[in-house]
Amino acid sequence: MLIRKPSDIASSEITPEAVYRSRRQFLHATAGLALGTAALSSSAASSPAVGEAVTEGLTSWPGASAPPGAAPWLRGQVAAAAPGAFRTEEAVAPWEIATRYNNFYEFGMDKGDPAEHAQEMTVDPWSVEIAGEVQTAGTFALEDILKPHDLEERIYRLRCVEAWSMVIPWVGFPLRDLLERFRPTADARYVEFTTLHRPEEMRGQRSFFATLDYPYVEGLRLDEAMHPLTLLAVGMYGQVLPNQNGAPLRLVVPWKYGFKSIKSIVRIRLTRRRPRTTWNELAPREYGFYANVNPEVSHPRWSQATERRLPSSLFSPNRRDTLMFNGYAEAVAPLYSGMDLARNY
Ligand code: MTE
Repeated sequence: MLIRKPSDIASSEITPEAVYRSRRQFLHATAGLALGTAALSSSAASSPAVGEAVTEGLTSWPGASAPPGAAPWLRGQVAAAAPGAFRTEEAVAPWEIATRYNNFYEFGMDKGDPAEHAQEMTVDPWSVEIAGEVQTAGTFALEDILKPHDLEERIYRLRCVEAWSMVIPWVGFPLRDLLERFRPTADARYVEFTTLHRPEEMRGQRSFFATLDYPYVEGLRLDEAMHPLTLLAVGMYGQVLPNQNGAPLRLVVPWKYGFKSIKSIVRIRLTRRRPRTTWNELAPREYGFYANVNPEVSHPRWSQATERRLPSSLFSPNRRDTLMFNGYAEAVAPLYSGMDLARNY
């Protein structure tokens, strides 16, 4: 991410046109992104029992399959997800692209490395520490973290700071619901997230050439974290998250550049002060803390005005204009009213 411009992306990374055309599917989705207050507060139907596989209503995505290491109880909970209110009408990326064109530096720097090596990460059992400015801190088994929450499918655009994008159907629940359960104190102002640090299973972490300082950390302001669009995902395409996409628990913040959407989370800490974040710390002039998608604020080494929507090929680059806040402006712009977005990039 740091060292490659979009123009440097090797043609070997670009799917041949014939392949993507044959896989291309269009989403016959409902009402587009519903932005009214009522829609923002709507949630999925009542919670099905854990392990009960109720697929009614959930979209079935061609090619999608459950990753082998996923816990059976989690498969059941994901299968029981209901369609959510937030769905773009744009074409969803084929599963093969969303799961093979990844950024997960813990497994290498090339787009294909995570799919090749992320199976080395053990995702069951998994626990998550909830720490800092909350009234009920502790370390909890993933099952206990997820059990009370109804899961829903949300179809979001994902815009990488490298100027490519995809549309992905996630399965998850609002981060807000989790944070409220653990009751933030009056002093909580930010939320810090930390990825697993396990060099023996994550070859990028033990590499002599590692560019990042691990563990990967990210952060949000508390009001951003509490925004109804901010999702904790455990699945995609109706299946448990593949390891390369951040199993078993990742963040999805659709109006921000993809690097904010931290993968394989083991700790969520509420803080008084703004937490340090991995890319911002490495190159503060290139990657801001806010990282809101903004076509008017260029990266120092390339423009952010347009993006390459995957699938894309040399002959059909599928380039389109980048939208302010990645198309979610109506919902999130009030979070930043009065702020200079060129300075707070
Ligand atoms: N989280 C961790 N722990 N490590 C990473 O390297 N890469 C980020 C983000 N989360 C990254 C991460 C970047 S740059 C992007 S664009 C998205 O994950 C990519 O998510 P995807 O591979 O599921 O499309």
